[in-house]
Amino acid sequence: MMGPLQSAIVAERLTKSFPGVRAVDGLSFDVRGGEIFGLVGPDGAGKTTTLRMLAGIMTPDDGSAIIAGIDVVRDPERAKHSLSYMPQRFGLYEDLTVDENIRFYADLFGVKRTERDARSNQLLQAAGMSEFRKRLAGKLSGGMKQKLGLVCALIHRPKVILLDEPTTGVDPVSRRDFWRILYELIAEGVAILTSTAYLDEAERCHRVALLHQGKLLFCDTPANLKANMHKGVLSIASQDPRGVRKQLERAEGLTSIVLTGDGVHVVVDDAVRRIPEYEAILTNARIPFDSCQQVQPTIEDLFVDAVGSGGSSDG
Ligand SMILES: Nc1ncnc2c1ncn2[C@@H]1O[C@H](COP(=O)(O)OP(=O)(O)O)[C@@H](O)[C@H]1O
Ligand SMILES: [Mg+2]
Repeated sequence: MMGPLQSAIVAERLTKSFPGVRAVDGLSFDVRGGEIFGLVGPDGAGKTTTLRMLAGIMTPDDGSAIIAGIDVVRDPERAKHSLSYMPQRFGLYEDLTVDENIRFYADLFGVKRTERDARSNQLLQAAGMSEFRKRLAGKLSGGMKQKLGLVCALIHRPKVILLDEPTTGVDPVSRRDFWRILYELIAEGVAILTSTAYLDEAERCHRVALLHQGKLLFCDTPANLKANMHKGVLSIASQDPRGVRKQLERAEGLTSIVLTGDGVHVVVDDAVRRIPEYEAILTNARIPFDSCQQVQPTIEDLFVDAVGSGGSSDG
């Protein structure tokens, strides 16, 4: 039995290599019941490999994974009863309706009919999909398909939920619905581990682990991560963000630059000192800008600064 203080997911020094690449490198973290934990990182960071090992469908080279008190490496079949794993491409039957897909998965997991009906009513309502029960899955939008996948994955009330980039490519409204379902679930005490490549989505998790090249860079609440970032972040509003970047790229005191919708965010050693310096550089170079001020760091600032802006972050 799982005690209330026991972690629902424990990854300890999980490691997995493929020819030429260490996909996951000594990864340790834990997730409690009632918690949404985000595994955040760009493509190739090792998110899917981590989730596969936790789901018991890939054996780690080293380290251990415990799900609801069960050792996944030693006893994957038993662990599978307590978890639900939603891979990036969840297997929906396109020529079955929404209801029929749910019934299929309910039968697969041995969910009784009354339980299935109550559960699917609740989940479809939270998903905003109650009117679409008779629609063929193949005729749903991408966001609806993802939500239906989640409903199917949750029909048997798993204690631990592993989601692999469930909102990638999903429209903003469906993304919001999706998160609403996740928040309902944690009220039931389940533990949710979700991967995402959207750094803004990290802010919605109780805790996040930032993953880069298989290694954990940081693991904490979004608020703590931001509070512990001792560098300053400046937001420079400009119609010419690329021009701003070109001028400031090599400026003294700057450690990274991220293009945003309406300008750039730069991470600097000392905000008070650099604001007038950078304003002067931009003015001399005749780069138009509306404002240059210190702002609260975002998870994206933190991540880009940790990974180095020499990477792939070109907005
Ligand atoms: N089955 C596999 N065979 C070989 N290399 C793999 C395999 N799966 C993943 N990789 C490699 O491992 C690294 C991590 O991949 P992955 O876990 O899919 O990352 P993410 O899900 O964060 O994009 C990448 O370099 C990827 O190319
Ligand atoms: Mg992946």
